[in-house]
Order: sequence, then structure tokens, then C-alpha cells
Amino acid sequence: MIQTIPTTPIDGQKPGTSGLRKKTATFRQPHYLENFIESIWTGIGGVAGKVLVLGGDGRAFNVDAVQIILKMAAASGAAKVIVGQNGLLSTPAASHLIRIRSADGGIILSASHNPGGDDGDFGVKYNTANGGPAPESVTNAIFKASETVTEYRILDSNDLDLGTLGTQTLGGMQVEVVDSVSDFAALMESLFDFDAIRALFADGFTLRFDAMHAITGPYAREILVNRLGAPESAVMNATPRPDFGGGHPDPNPVWAHELMALMMGPDAPDFGAASDGDGDRNMIVGRATYVSPSDSLAVIAANAHLAPGYAKGLAGVARSMPTSEAVDRVAEARGLPCYATPTGWKFFGNLLDAGRATLCGEESAGTGSDHVREKDGLWAVLMWLNILASKRMSVAEAMHAHWDEFGRNFYSRHDYEAVDKAAAEELIAVLRARLDKLAGLPAGPLVVTEAEDFSYTDPVDGSVTAGQGLQLRFEGGARLVLRLSGTGTEGATLRVYMESFAADAFNQDPQIALADVIAAAEALAGIKTRLGRAQPDVVT
Ligand code: G6P
Ligand code: ZN
Repeated sequence: MIQTIPTTPIDGQKPGTSGLRKKTATFRQPHYLENFIESIWTGIGGVAGKVLVLGGDGRAFNVDAVQIILKMAAASGAAKVIVGQNGLLSTPAASHLIRIRSADGGIILSASHNPGGDDGDFGVKYNTANGGPAPESVTNAIFKASETVTEYRILDSNDLDLGTLGTQTLGGMQVEVVDSVSDFAALMESLFDFDAIRALFADGFTLRFDAMHAITGPYAREILVNRLGAPESAVMNATPRPDFGGGHPDPNPVWAHELMALMMGPDAPDFGAASDGDGDRNMIVGRATYVSPSDSLAVIAANAHLAPGYAKGLAGVARSMPTSEAVDRVAEARGLPCYATPTGWKFFGNLLDAGRATLCGEESAGTGSDHVREKDGLWAVLMWLNILASKRMSVAEAMHAHWDEFGRNFYSRHDYEAVDKAAAEELIAVLRARLDKLAGLPAGPLVVTEAEDFSYTDPVDGSVTAGQGLQLRFEGGARLVLRLSGTGTEGATLRVYMESFAADAFNQDPQIALADVIAAAEALAGIKTRLGRAQPDVVT
């Protein structure tokens, strides 16, 4: 039954910030997925005898890919694959399953927040035994294997029934189909005060969670409706669809506009939230109050002890370098270690494994803790609900109380999407070449004090990751970061991150509070001319 299929290497199978992401049509080309999966087997030292977790966010090609991967795992001698029912698992649920089942690793099928469908994106990501995204040593080995692959093995057999729970065999391999939601829901119940949240809802607190037609629908229904007693209508766009209903499942004010319109309008519930394609990102909104991901991280750092799972306090906190320093202020006030890592959740893995950080977050709408090794959208929603249930405050009141105590880091990110790759690379290269000479010089209305090309030395294993973004600081404390996205699939995306600190006057529009930093960015990098764009495509 085992077929050995000859193949030749396919260009560009290099995992980016978060796995290999390409157009769905690219993945559907003959041998494309197979080559990459075979390269994963090689990159992890072979799959023979191993136990893997497998599932995806339900986007187009998810189920076909699951069937192919199962047949390839069986042909190469894997002992067992644990699959989410119908091939579905959110990214945090997959991470949890890898951990509780002591699996050797897992394959997650998703392009996260990128649109899906026949014209959208697909992705494959390998996670290691700790439940987290593979470190660069592993993804580099996978890429290297993809450059030399000459054949792959696949079982010639019928498709498996992925709808029925229980264990089947495929060749010599076991395939266990598990409920996608229940283990994850139980984990959430162990971390948060469900009684307090239930009581909050019973007292009339209203919420709306937007699953954006993606993977979190079934999870949100089970947790928010079945276990916490919210009405069915609290979860919108709750049925996962292969094309996410034609939408862009990224929980930010631009793409979650349906929810945002509700939250900013006269009929806003007390609390709004959304998650992305694969369920690891989150957006938190109060009535007429958008909470930036950086602020959310800081509020959680200051209040996590209110949730039973974190009652003993945090060991430390970590943020990606471009994330605002709001959490640093909390860490300083509370005497907590605080780490700044390159963009990409995988860089938190060692800090979490070593017990140096309990809480991690990124400006890109990711927040999570040591409960799994991925960021976790519903976890963040439940953490906020737990905090509000305990403080009995509105979101706006919680934000103001936070700023009164710690001050406010105004923050914004400007994205220039699908721009000319060469032009974007040149913009970065030209500025990078000048970094050494910038200190003391004016940049628009500001004066540069420090400029560096961010390089990270992992405090646990000593590995060095260089070239992770240009970071500039200015007199008066403002900060600017420029980097190219590692997750786009079209041209390049330039991200410009800006922040400034204010000890009072908290109610300004961030775009106004940050006007000088925005001008400094333009003066330093000449974004408009170089990219031929009058304004950013996305402002968060
Ligand atoms: C994914 C990763 C995150 C990362 C984000 C933005 O969601 O899991 O860790 O912050 O992409 O990456 P990018 O390279 O596009 O800025
Ligand atoms: Zn995601």
C-alpha cells in the first residue's frame, strides 16, 4: 500500500514568521504540500514511531490536506496521529492537545488571519513537543530538506472518516479523532473564575463575540453560551466557513468592522471581542472604547492575579519589540522581569518553558500565557471578562483606572500592504545603513537619541536572532520601529510602529498624540515617496 513518489524540490518553501503560507492554489499544485510535509519529516529527524496532533482552522483545502498528511504519516511509520473532529482545531487548542497528550509535535493547517478560500491563503505550521511553534533551528532544517527532497511516501488508501470520534487504524498507524473543543474548554474553566463571570452575565452584563466565520465559533459557543450562560446571540458569525464568509478574519478595527460599528453605536453591549482565522488573536472593545493590544497586555499584566489560575502572581512578562512599553511600566511598578523579543510567538517559547515569563503579548493582537505555547484569543477574552467580573468596572473605566495608575503609552501601527518588495527592502536598507549616524540629529520635529537594528539574544539558550527591525528613540521618550512583515504573501508589507508616553491628557486621539512621531518616521524613511503611497492601508 505504500507508494514512493519521485519529486523535485519546489522553490520558496521557506517557513516565515509563522509557518509556510502561500496561496491556496499554490498548495493545491501537484506535490506542493507533499514535498513540504516530507521536508517536515526530514527536518524533525523522521516521523517513525512518533505521535502527532493534527488539525486546522477549516479554511479551503483543510480537509484534503489532513487526509494527505495522515496517509503520509502512516506511510513513514508514525505511531499515532490525534486529529480534531472533521480536521478542525484552533491553534491554541492544538497547542494544548500536544501538551496534554505528550505528543512529539503537531501540524497546524492555517494561514491565521489571512483570508481563505480558493483565492485566499493556506498555511502549514509545525509545532514541537512543548506545544509551541518550531524554533528557527527546526524551520531552517525543514527548509533545507525542501531544497533537496527527491521522493515522498504516501499510503494508497481510502480517505478516513474524520467525523466520528474514536480510534481507527491507517496502515500500521492509529488515528484518533477527538472532540475539537472539550479539552480546551476544560482548560479555560480551570484558569478562570467561571462563577464570577456567570454572575456578571446574570446581572445583565452584555457581550458580543465575533468569530468572523472562523474556527472560534464552536469554542465560543461551548464556553460563552453553554458553560457561562450568555445568550446564543452573544456569538456572531459562529459557523466556520472555508472562505470565512468572504471576509478577512483579522480581529482589528478595520476588518472586524461589523463588530466595531456595533460597539461604537447606540446599541453597543458592555463588551465586544473577536478572534482570527485560527483562534489565536484577539480584539477587545468596550462600549465606544477600543483597547489596543498593547494596552490589553498591560491591563492583563496588572490584573491577572484576579483569575484563579494566576492568583500566585506572574513570574515575568514578555512582549515583542514593536509592542508598546505599556507593559514595561506595569512590570517596573510590580518588580517583574520584562523581556522584549523579536516579532513571532515562537520567541516566547523558551521564556515560558524556563518559567521566566508567565504572560506574553504582541501588538499584533496576540496575548497568552504559559497555559499553552501559542497566543490564545478566547483566553484573552475570558481573562478580560474575569477582570471585569472581579472589578465590576466597564472597559472604559478599567482603561482609565489603568492609565491613572501607570500613565498612557499612546500607540499606533501604520501598515503599507502589498507594496513593491524591492522598494520596501531598499527603504529599510537605506535607513539601516544610516542608523549609526542618527543619534543627536533632528528627524522632522523630533531629535533622535538612539537608533539600532534590533538583535535578540535568547537568555535561555543563547541563540542570536539579528535584523529584527529598526528601533529608534527620540528626546522626550517617543519610540519608532520599522520592519517588514514576515507573514504577507503578496509583495511586501511595511509596518511602522509608533509610541509616546503621556502622564496625563489621556483622552487624545492616538493619531494626534503621535503626530510628531509620524512626521519623524516620514522624515527618516521617506515612506510616501519610496512606496508611492499617500497613506497607510491599515491603521491600528
Ligand atoms: C503571526 C505571528 C505573530 C506575529 C504576527 C505578525 O500572527 O504568530 O507572532 O506577531 O504574525 O507578524 P508580521 O511579521 O506580519 O508582522
Ligand atoms: Zn492566528
